[in-house]
This record gives sequence, structure tokens and C-alpha cells, in this order.
Amino acid sequence: MPKRNKEKKTGRQVDRSVSLLWGGRFKKPLAEEALEFSSSFNIDKRLWKQDILGSIAHAIMLSETGIIDEAEARKIVKGLVALMRDIETGKVALDGQDEDIHSFVERKLREYVGEVAGKLHTARSRNDQVATDFRLWYRDAIRQLAEGILKMQQALISQAEKHIDTLLPGMTHLQHAQPVRLAHHLLAHFWALQRDLERLKDLLPRVNVSPLGAAALAGSGLPINPKRTAQLLGFAETAENSMDAVSDRDFACELVFVCALTMVHLSRLAEEIILWSTPEFGFVTLDDSWCTGSSIMPQKRNPDIAELVRGKTGVVVGSLMQLLTMLKGLPLTYNRDLQEDKAIVFNAFDTTLASLSVMSQLIVTATFNAERMRRTLMRDFSTATDLADYLVQKGEPFREAHRIVGQIVLHLSEQNKGLEDATLNDLRIFSDKFDDDALELLLPEKSVERRKELAGTAKVSVQRQLKKAKLENEQTTKWIQNFPNLSEEIVKLLK
Ligand code: ARG
Repeated sequence: MPKRNKEKKTGRQVDRSVSLLWGGRFKKPLAEEALEFSSSFNIDKRLWKQDILGSIAHAIMLSETGIIDEAEARKIVKGLVALMRDIETGKVALDGQDEDIHSFVERKLREYVGEVAGKLHTARSRNDQVATDFRLWYRDAIRQLAEGILKMQQALISQAEKHIDTLLPGMTHLQHAQPVRLAHHLLAHFWALQRDLERLKDLLPRVNVSPLGAAALAGSGLPINPKRTAQLLGFAETAENSMDAVSDRDFACELVFVCALTMVHLSRLAEEIILWSTPEFGFVTLDDSWCTGSSIMPQKRNPDIAELVRGKTGVVVGSLMQLLTMLKGLPLTYNRDLQEDKAIVFNAFDTTLASLSVMSQLIVTATFNAERMRRTLMRDFSTATDLADYLVQKGEPFREAHRIVGQIVLHLSEQNKGLEDATLNDLRIFSDKFDDDALELLLPEKSVERRKELAGTAKVSVQRQLKKAKLENEQTTKWIQNFPNLSEEIVKLLK
């Protein structure tokens, strides 16, 4: 058989001693293509800091429990701290032929401290290690997402404050329904985002659990102290079941769900911005710095940023499906399929964070056209419900009142008139319950003011809502300030 054919069959092979954490039981090296296919280093290198932090805590615990020698542990920890610094300053680049970030860190550590590096992986597996790294990363991700949502909410609040007295048609089925304050409309988006924040707050305690000590799946046979590593890393709890600890990715699904729903919320807002910026609506003018032009039509100002947020929502919603589908057939415990979680989660997270950032700036800098909005309320019959309510207060059953006002609307529209053009005579053709005071109701300014109860669009109600929204933001800020963090011991070590 010619040599080239043989080469093709087995493929080029990897120098196992350099890049792999295993190899003793193999006679032949791994095929280069197999390593390429299975390596996650290009994606999980993003976890380099978390991996080093977890390793520092693990080494401290190993020394305190007497599993490794104190001097050796000190050497390892010093090496890890130095490696962290060197990566931070760019002295060490995150590249190599490594299988994953865990292999990279251990290989580099060996360059710093020599063979003692081999003691770090005592009583640990990459299975509990990767779950630990990922959970540490999630803690940060939750905080960053919360900050992003907060910024988006603040953008909505700042515009709401400017537009308490701006009226526009509130819509159902995209048809004029009843007049509302623009502040009220914008704050509706605030509360959707507030629920996303609540979901993040709810998720944090499920993320902040340490899997370290689960080892490969069954726990370690050595006298480890998982509570200590948890405490060093700022985890509130340790996992209850080692098998669950290495195979659980619920927290990934939950975070991606929050990302997906947050994106759906942004996308609905984006859709409104896109519609509102058309000349047909003319409700909003985007700032030059947040819209784009056309390469052929010189006059164009396109809402591409909002469109991309809407488009990328599909990608993030898809991420949730990718993750759930990846998990659905996995038997306990760790399976290599789980490695695919990172690319999915990172992409969903990055997209959501970036979308929150651009949308908040787009909203803050947008100009809402109050006059245009008010003009579209003319002759749009959006105060018809108020007229029906008037009859109800005069004793008419609502169904009958609805029928009467329907006839009035038909009558006026056939004469090209709106409700505001109606005379008392027009109304009295249909019911003698109408008096002079009925005509006053037909102004949108009066209509919104009648809705004073909780959650309504009257000025007092919207002001109450604004106050509550700001209070929620203060609480979120406090929550972010009290975020779980690494223990003082670890922080000191890094200084
Ligand atoms: N890189 C893997 C992951 O991200 C961790 C390695 C575990 N590998 C293994 N063969 N048990 O899931």
C-alpha cells in the first residue's frame, strides 16, 4: 500500500505529551483531526480567569486538608497567580494545541512551577472543574445582564419623564384604541424588563452553588473539603449530589431563557421603533448616530439597529432550542456533548448584552414627536369608550351604550366628521341621556385623565408608576452592589 494512502487512513497524529491530560493507557497518539474536532479551547479559553481562580481555591483546600504538601501548594498558587497576571498583561497568549482551557492552564502552570503542577489535579476532574468555571462565569454574566437591563430601563424612564403630557393613540390590533400618555406606553416596556431582572435575581442562588469536589461523578475518595473551596470562591452552597453536580446544565438553560425573553422584549420595542419611524407614523426620529443610510438612495435614514435587534432575537431564541435539544438525550452523568453548551451560551449572552446596550442608546437619543402623535388622535374616534361610559353612568346597560355609541361613530364618519366635531344634537339623535357635559369627554386630554385608578394612564397614575419604577431601579442597584464575590482571601492573593 502506498505510504500516502496509509497516512490518509490514520491521519496526522498529535504529540500527546504536549497537549493532552491523558494518554497513559493508549498505544497510539490521537489523530490530529480528532483533536481538532474535539477541542473546545478556542471557545472555552474565555473561561481562563475562572479556571485559574477555581484552581487556586482547589490548591489551597488540598494543602489545608493535608492532601498535598503546604510548600508545594504555595508554589502552585504562586504559579497560578503569576500566570493570571501574565495572561492579563498579554505576556502569555491564549493559544496552543490544547484540548481545552483546563489543559492549557495546567500546561502553562508546568512551565512556571515544574512537575509539581501535576499535583493540582488531585481529587478533581475536568467534569467538576468545567462546571465550576462555568458557574463562576455565570455569576458575572448575571451581573452584566442585570446592568444592561438596568441601563435599558433608565433609558425608558428618561424618555417617560419628558413625555408625561405627550398623548398618542394606544393601539390594539395596530388600530387606534384609546388615547394614552407616551410615558405610560414607554413604561409598559419597563415592566417587561423588570420581570427579566426578577428572573435573573431568582436564578442567582441556583447558579451560585459549587460543584467542586464532585470530581468525575462519584465524589472524591480523598479527604477533601468542598465547603472550603466553595467558601473561597464565594459560592453560597455546595452541590447535594455529585452526579447531578457534573451533569446539571439547568442554569445554562435558565440564563439562555432569560436572554431569549429579554430579546423578545427588546424586539417588540424595536418593532415599534421601526414602525414609528416611518413617515406614515412619524412618531419618532432616530438620532443620526443610531440610524443608517442607503448605498443607492441618498435620502434614506434606516432603522437598521432596531431591525438587527429584532433579527438577532431569532438567533437567541434558537440558542435556547439548541441547548435543550443538546441536553434531552443525555444519560447521567458527564457526556462530551455538554461541551457544546459554551458556544451556545456565550453567543446568546453576547448578543443580548450588545442588544441591550445599543437599544438603550437608541432610545435615549431618539426624539419622540409629540405634535405628530397628538395630531393622529384627531377624528380617530379613540374616545368612543368614554362616551359609552358616560351613558353607563346615566344608567344605560353597557351593551346598549356600546350599540348607541357605535351608531354615533357610523353616523359621524359617514359625514367625514370625528367625535370632536359632534354637537349635542348629533348625540341626542341616538340617546336623550346625553347632556352638555358629554361633549367635554371627547377630548383625548380628558379621556386619559379619567383613568386614575392603579395602572391607568391618568397623570397621577403614571407619576405613581414612574416613582415605583425608580424605586425598583434603586433596589436593583443595591442588589448588584451586594453581588456574591470571591472571598477576601482570594482577592488578597491576587493583589
Ligand atoms: N472541555 C470539556 C467541557 O467543556 C471538559 C472536559 C471534560 N472532558 C472529559 N473527557 N471528561 O465540557
